[in-house]
Amino acid sequence: MSKYDDIKKQLKNTPKVWLITGVAGFIGSNLLETLLLLDQKVIGLDNFATGHQHNLDEVQGQVSNEQWHNFAFVKGDIRNVDDCQKALRFNNQNVDYVLHQAALGSVPRSIADPILTNSANITGFVNMLTAAKDAKVSTFVYAASSSTYGDHPALPKVEENIGKPLSPYAVTKYVNELYADVFHKTYGLNATGLRYFNVFGKRQDPNGAYAAVIPKWTAAMIENQDLFINGDGETSRDFCFIENAVQANILAAMASDEGKNQVYNVALGDKTSLNELFSSLVIALRANDIDYKKSAIYREFRVGDVLHSQADISKAKELLGYQPEFRIQQGIAKVMPWYVKFLTSLES
Ligand SMILES: NC(=O)c1ccc[n+]([C@@H]2O[C@H](COP(=O)([O-])OP(=O)(O)OC[C@H]3O[C@@H](n4cnc5c(N)ncnc54)[C@H](O)[C@@H]3O)[C@@H](O)[C@H]2O)c1
Repeated sequence: MSKYDDIKKQLKNTPKVWLITGVAGFIGSNLLETLLLLDQKVIGLDNFATGHQHNLDEVQGQVSNEQWHNFAFVKGDIRNVDDCQKALRFNNQNVDYVLHQAALGSVPRSIADPILTNSANITGFVNMLTAAKDAKVSTFVYAASSSTYGDHPALPKVEENIGKPLSPYAVTKYVNELYADVFHKTYGLNATGLRYFNVFGKRQDPNGAYAAVIPKWTAAMIENQDLFINGDGETSRDFCFIENAVQANILAAMASDEGKNQVYNVALGDKTSLNELFSSLVIALRANDIDYKKSAIYREFRVGDVLHSQADISKAKELLGYQPEFRIQQGIAKVMPWYVKFLTSLES
């Protein structure tokens, strides 16, 4: 039995109380779905800055009525410390684990508005850390980012070797790690960071100027629009299917003392170029009866992006028992019917 299976069994037998911030977003709503299916009690906090009610509605449709009643939603903003405290004290429940996902993602958004990104990602982060410390939670797991590797040239990326950040977003995610470490040292809060590498899966928003590459391209292909590649397409990423990221969160929350208060790469350890990704999406859509015949249009490389990203995931394997269950092709095959259904329902 894998460590993850073992932990899921433990949780089913002895349910815990979890707070997910950013619960109406992509990663948050997937965490919610998995935890409710494991009969956990979950409090969710979100201000709908980039998350959606329809993500929560979809989760409701995936779980039993009884499991849905284990969920309480708090509409609030992590930039307001009272909202953080309210979520942590909701119905006088003692929260065991916080999975902190709320933040403003996207490198270009942070370049367009660094003050806004800073307020959600740094002020909001410190508010949540403080509230979690005061509420004496067992472990605070937070969404860090591979952008923290910045201009460090080495590949694959190993946790302790980071460079200088290349965007305001990357600065905020690195500052999160520094604060988490200091809150552990000064207040004894257990805080574990997960450096996500291009997570993808159902409910990742395909719309808006700051959509991530997989949902953005998938939407363009389904709608038969032109599709743009920034740079020559040989830029590469370590794409990580959502279910691997969910696994990492649950393992990090329940980690042994040795595994706590660390920062981990959460990825697959593979490298996929944008040109390869383009071909994979075309093939996966064909399996869903959608034939995208246009060629990609190449344009300028985007400021603030790193050229190559590939993780060494041995630390998470060793200390958390992380075993990613989905490779990129499997993840793409799994998510494609969801995008086809979601995007065609928006059109009708
Ligand atoms: N998706 C990725 O590939 C990836 C990669 C690296 C890091 N991350 C990090 O993972 C986390 C989740 O990302 P996601 O892809 O699910 O993004 P998302 O935008 O779908 O989810 C973020 C959620 O946080 C909420 N939120 C934002 N500001 C808030 C505020 N001030 N108060 C309360 N809620 C707020 C949003 O409404 C949204 O529901 C973020 O911290 C992001 O920086 C994601």
